[in-house]
Amino acid sequence: MTERQHKQAVRSAFDRAAASYDSAAAVQREICHRLSGLAAAFPCASAPAKVLDAGCGTGYGLPLLAARCPAACLLALDFAPAMLTRLAANPAFADALPICGDLEALPLPAQSIDAVWSSLALQWCEPGLALGEIARVLRPGGMAWLATLGPDTLYELRDAFAAIDDADHVIRFHSPARWSEAAQQAGFEVLAADAPHTHALAPDLRRLLHDIKAIGAHSVGSGPRPALTRAAWRVLESRYEIHRRADGLLPATYHLVLLALRKR
Ligand SMILES: C[S@@+](CC[C@H](N)C(=O)[O-])C[C@H]1O[C@@H](n2cnc3c(N)ncnc32)[C@H](O)[C@@H]1O
Repeated sequence: MTERQHKQAVRSAFDRAAASYDSAAAVQREICHRLSGLAAAFPCASAPAKVLDAGCGTGYGLPLLAARCPAACLLALDFAPAMLTRLAANPAFADALPICGDLEALPLPAQSIDAVWSSLALQWCEPGLALGEIARVLRPGGMAWLATLGPDTLYELRDAFAAIDDADHVIRFHSPARWSEAAQQAGFEVLAADAPHTHALAPDLRRLLHDIKAIGAHSVGSGPRPALTRAAWRVLESRYEIHRRADGLLPATYHLVLLALRKR
């Protein structure tokens, strides 16, 4: 699969997931609140006039961003049109300006934005390209509050699938160090970098996979694959069982990469 085909496949997966996203996005909401805490700890030096939610999805982060930047004009960017259609249909987001565009080629002028917020979109991007674009559109001194995913994300699933075949069933995530390095190269000062783990929880593997698919984040990396046979599914389930917690739930790890950056 070429880079272009991969991006198109990711965009289509999020387009298809737009209707089900909100019903399954519990961890994604928790992460938005963590990002809001980071924005509170590392605010803009002066009241921002224009702020961007890059990879806004259905818009859960927008009110949190608005609360941090009360006087600002909000730009809500995503490359999946169906996500923006849902956002535009929600009267709560009537003040936000939806923009269909790619984080790796932002359709915005240089130095036109005071702060960028991005929650769980950057893991689909090449760090140097996306952070270079965020740096380009920010004014000097502008802030970026970013949440993306590190290599331990969904490791339980990756390990369980390894018992079945050699294919990549879970996308590969960049390390926290790679993100910090790319940020510095793009012209940012790294004010804070944290990499905590959090978990999605479900009673069984079928439900965990259902929720991952419902938010559009299932693997699209290695193209279409045949459905699992019953025997393969049984192996997958039994391998995943070793992670069952004392409270009876199955976890899926999300390894967060949280960054507060200031454009030099
Ligand atoms: C997991 S959702 C997160 C949505 C929202 N930020 C939230 O926290 O609920 C990821 C979003 O990023 C968008 N996205 C992924 N790659 C993108 C890119 N290169 N450019 C713009 N949007 C992108 C997807 O379409 C999807 O809506």
